[in-house]
Parts: sequence; C-alpha cells; structure tokens
Amino acid sequence: MWTLRFLGMRHILLTATVGLTVAAACEFARAQEFPPDAVKGKVVYERNCLACHGPGGRGDGPDAAALRVPPANFHRFKSFLKSDEELLRTIEHGIVFSPMHSWQGQLTETERQDALAYIRLLVQRGQ
Ligand code: HEC
Repeated sequence: MWTLRFLGMRHILLTATVGLTVAAACEFARAQEFPPDAVKGKVVYERNCLACHGPGGRGDGPDAAALRVPPANFHRFKSFLKSDEELLRTIEHGIVFSPMHSWQGQLTETERQDALAYIRLLVQRGQ
C-alpha cells in the first residue's frame, strides 16, 4: 500500500517535471523565431539592395556606377567589423548626403534584420 502511494507520488512529480520541460521547450521554440532569417533576407536584399550593393554584396550592383558615393562593399573590413547594431542603425536611418537612404517605413524591423542576416551570410560564404 505504501509503495503504491509512493509510486503514485512519483508519477505526479514526473508528470509535473515533464510538463514543465515541455513548457520550457515551447518557450525556447518561440524565442527561436526571433533570430533573423537569411532566407527571407535574400528576398528583401534582392528586391531592395542588390541594385546598388550587388549580388554578392561587393558594392557592384547595376546602379552602382551611376552613384557618386560608391555603395558599401560588405566584404571589406570597414563594413564587416561593424556590429549588427551599427549596420542596422545605418539601414534604419540611412547616411546623410549619400544614396543610402533610410529604410524606415519601407521595410519592417524584421525585414531589415533579415536583410542584414543575408548580407552576413554573403560575406561568410565569400561570394
Ligand atoms: C541607391 C543605392 C543603394 C541602395 C538601394 C541600398 N544602399 Fe546601402 N549603401 C549605399 C551607399 C552608397 C552606401 C555607402 C554610403 C557611404 O559610405 O557614405 C551604403 C551603405 C550601406 C551600409 C553601411 C555599411 C557600412 O560599412 O557602414 C549598409 C549596412 C547598407 N548600405 C545596407 C543596405 C541595405 C540592407 C539595403 C537594402 C534594404 C541597401 N543598403 C540599399 C547605397 C545603397
């Protein structure tokens, strides 16, 4: 009888533990939606940034030649050593007196983050 009750307690405890673990795992899965998505970023980049920054992010897009200020080549140390925050700020607010205008209002924060994730991927791949 005692053993049975003991086993019953253990069962409840185990169920509670499993329940908590599942809840924690769900929380984690939800948090995982946050990291930027380079696949979505590719679409954003190709539609909005490629014309200047080029297919590989080297600043050699079809519109680049006509610009007085050359588009950033993301493979250069100057760019890729900058933090995500700094680059995101540039994408959000643009650069004064430069063809790099602000994307605030045209792209959502998520789209801007996704685009940066894709830029980082291009540089990582060395393309
Ligand atoms: C009309 C051309 C043009 C388009 C379109 C454009 N950019 Fe730029 N971008 C530039 C130029 C030019 C610079 C460099 C400005 C400077 O150095 O003064 C730049 C700079 C940047 C920088 C800063 C790099 C650094 O090292 O600080 C980032 C980040 C950037 N662009 C991201 C983007 C993203 C993301 C998009 C698309 C959503 C985009 N750009 C679209 C022209 C463009």
